[in-house]
Parts: sequence; C-alpha cells; structure tokens
Amino acid sequence: MIIGSNFIFCENLSSTNTYSANRLRIETLPEGTIIYTNFQSAGKGQMGNQWESEDGSNLLISIVLYPRVVDPEEQFLISMALSLGICDFLKRYLPDCKIKWPNDIYVDDGKIAGILIENSIMNNKIESCIAGIGLNINQVKFLSDAPNPVSLSLLTGRTYDLGVCLNQLSEDTDRKYRQLLSGDRYTIRSEYISSLYRLNKWSDFKDINGVFSGRLISVTQTGLLQVENRKGEVVEYMFNELKFIP
Ligand code: BTN
Repeated sequence: MIIGSNFIFCENLSSTNTYSANRLRIETLPEGTIIYTNFQSAGKGQMGNQWESEDGSNLLISIVLYPRVVDPEEQFLISMALSLGICDFLKRYLPDCKIKWPNDIYVDDGKIAGILIENSIMNNKIESCIAGIGLNINQVKFLSDAPNPVSLSLLTGRTYDLGVCLNQLSEDTDRKYRQLLSGDRYTIRSEYISSLYRLNKWSDFKDINGVFSGRLISVTQTGLLQVENRKGEVVEYMFNELKFIP
C-alpha cells in the first residue's frame, strides 16, 4: 500500500493542499500520506475558484506523492489514475459515474468531486505531487454558485461514516496509483477514456470561435481533449479552451 500508508488529521485548515505544500517545504512526508480535515476556510478549486464544503460533511484530502517514474509531459496520467480511483469508490454506492474532462467527477449531470493537482517539477522530474480531492458525501445544501453540485447523500438519501469512506477512497486510489507505477499506462488511459462524460455523444460545446456541435472522441497522452465537429474535423483542446454547454 502506498496511498493511505500515513494519515495526518487537522480539525480545521485553510486548505489541505496549502498545508501539505508548507509541510513539504520543511520535511519529507512518506509517499502516500493523506492529509485530511473537517473544514477548510480557503479551500482551493480549479482556476482560482473556492471549494465549498460544509464543516464535517465531506471528504477534504490531499495525497502526497512522489511519482518520479512519470515524466512531466505525462503528468496527466496521475490525474487519470486518481479520477478512476474516485469512480471506483463511488461505484461501491452508485451504479455509475463519469469523469468530466479533465478531472471533475460527475453523476448524471451533477458534480460530486473535484481534483486539484499541484506538482513541483525540478530538473525535468516530478519532485512531489499534492493531489487534492474534494468529495461531497453528506452535504445536502450547497450555498455557492458552483454549477450543479451533488453529494452521495443527495443521490442515495443515506448518510455515510466519513472514516469508512476515507479508508475506502484510499484503497481505491491506491490500487489505481500502483497500477500507474507498475507501467500499465495503457489500461489507465483506456479506462479513463471510456469513463468520459459525454463520450461519443453529440452535444454543444463552446470554444474561442463560439458554440458548436461536437463529440468527444479521445484524450491524448498529454491530456488534450480531442473533439470531432460536424465537418468531421478533430480539434485538440487544452484545459480552459473548451466549455461544455449544459
Ligand atoms: C475543482 O475545482 O474541481 C477542484 C476542487 C479540489 C478541492 C479539494 S478539497 C481538498 C483539497 N484542498 C484544497 O484546497 N482543494 C482540494
């Protein structure tokens, strides 16, 4: 076991990612350390957004990794492996879930989890990776204007023991991370692609040229999303270059 070999709990933090980065500046934490909290006063989301999470209701964790066998150009593989681990956890309780590229976890059209990965790269090697995961478990009311949040409770009408969920999530992400380290990139990438939200479904997207009808067909090794338009052209997008229209 790598992920979940060591746990650090703090009742309140500004952000588990920020706290992990500060700890890593002064010491080396064992690989797979999970730092978790009940409440974040400044939880970080993608693109400078805040991550909303009610006190004591959800999983708020950062996993410290040293994925030195993964080249910086292939760092998206870490995101793929962890997204798949979160999906494995959710499938313990739900029939299905999808990954909205690049790494939002969706159940139907609601977002149940988000990942914020912060890598430190030195001499063309990933020195350390802080993988922050926010997974909505028991929260039933969301106050921020985040689009379509859902939680396990909202979807099933039950409440969950966060300690049990944390252990299961750690097992499920560990399995996928070890698969990645063992070199099985092909399986990670193909499972990721087949779990994509809206894969092969014609729907509306918006890019720099406006709204268009397209379908997701694949993701490259480096994490670019490939979308086919109605003219049969395939365009590759970086994160932030493409919006999914509801
Ligand atoms: C997203 O915007 O989808 C990414 C959200 C990531 C939130 C998690 S919560 C635990 C960890 N600490 C943070 O400050 N952010 C991540």
